[in-house]
Amino acid sequence: MESLGSSLPVPNVQELAKENISAVPDRYIRPDREAAIVSGSDGIPNIPVIDFQSLFDGESAPAERERLHRACKEWGLFQLINHEVNTEIVDKMKEETQGFFASPFEEKKSLSQVPGEIEGYGQAFVVSNDQKLDWADMFYLVTHPVSLRKPHIWQMLSTSFRSAIENYAIETQKLVIKILELMANNLGMKKEELHESFEDGMQAMRMNYYPPCPQPELVIGLSPHSDGIGLTLLLQLSDVQGLQVKKDGEWIPVSLLQNAFVVNIGDIMEIISNGVYCSVEHRAVVSHDAERMSIATFFSPNMNVEFGPAPSLITPETPPLFKRVGTAEFFKNLFTRKLQGRAYIDDLRIEKRNE
Ligand code: OGA
Ligand code: NI
Repeated sequence: MESLGSSLPVPNVQELAKENISAVPDRYIRPDREAAIVSGSDGIPNIPVIDFQSLFDGESAPAERERLHRACKEWGLFQLINHEVNTEIVDKMKEETQGFFASPFEEKKSLSQVPGEIEGYGQAFVVSNDQKLDWADMFYLVTHPVSLRKPHIWQMLSTSFRSAIENYAIETQKLVIKILELMANNLGMKKEELHESFEDGMQAMRMNYYPPCPQPELVIGLSPHSDGIGLTLLLQLSDVQGLQVKKDGEWIPVSLLQNAFVVNIGDIMEIISNGVYCSVEHRAVVSHDAERMSIATFFSPNMNVEFGPAPSLITPETPPLFKRVGTAEFFKNLFTRKLQGRAYIDDLRIEKRNE
């Protein structure tokens, strides 16, 4: 496969945070940062929690499936509990990721992004030298299909890290197929349409490391964005929180439950559902004392197909709202931009004709 894109090299934030600076460099200061609702205030709506087992249990299934549908329409995200991904596989993935970020900088550098590539250790979505930067480092790699794996990255992984990633990739893939099938069913989409797009779909992982920060309220760990993929499963590595979602114009902190995944609708799923589901805008904030880590696993259509609003959802009353686009082209364009809320999906909208 051709490269998905690239990002300009930036300083390593984990190393910067070790320098005991009392003020963060100007490039990380975000005067445009919007305040969030204070966690624990009255009237903060709760992020929906979906019980995976209930979705298949004869008695509770219809109501739980309806709750799932509402969560996708009204929130674009939910926490998934009682999912089937084996705890040992999840724990191993957490442990290996923690081990990777805790290893000496010199070692991590062997996995650095090479010029012209987005995969590897570094940062994404940096397209200009005067753009503000996020207070985080990341390690990004494509995990599925196997033919798209980059040998120069996979060969550098320790055996235990590689096998943790492989096992986690397989288990999360199985889970996501089941979730997508439930969504297709809820939407009234033909199952084949889903399979045509997601068969041998692309799966990638982004491991995020957010170091502690002397001025956490001035920086952003991960800029506001919607995920430019189909569906995301987010795993947080400890109980240090930092994810926030934008709902009705307000930033709401998400308090992740133990053993839960956050599932969020990405831009591609919003497009396939012809706007019935919404890809939620979210960001990550950082803290003064604690490091935070997360793993976002992204599921997308096959790189060789085109996707667009599902034909079975198009009617005279619900004309297509988005253009069709090839998956590979979608990614190529995604990585040439900086993260900016929902700007990318808005560009794929079919312009309303003036009447
Ligand atoms: C992402 C993401 C949030 C987090 O990687 O796309 O939104 O809490 N991560 O790390
Ligand atoms: Ni995201």
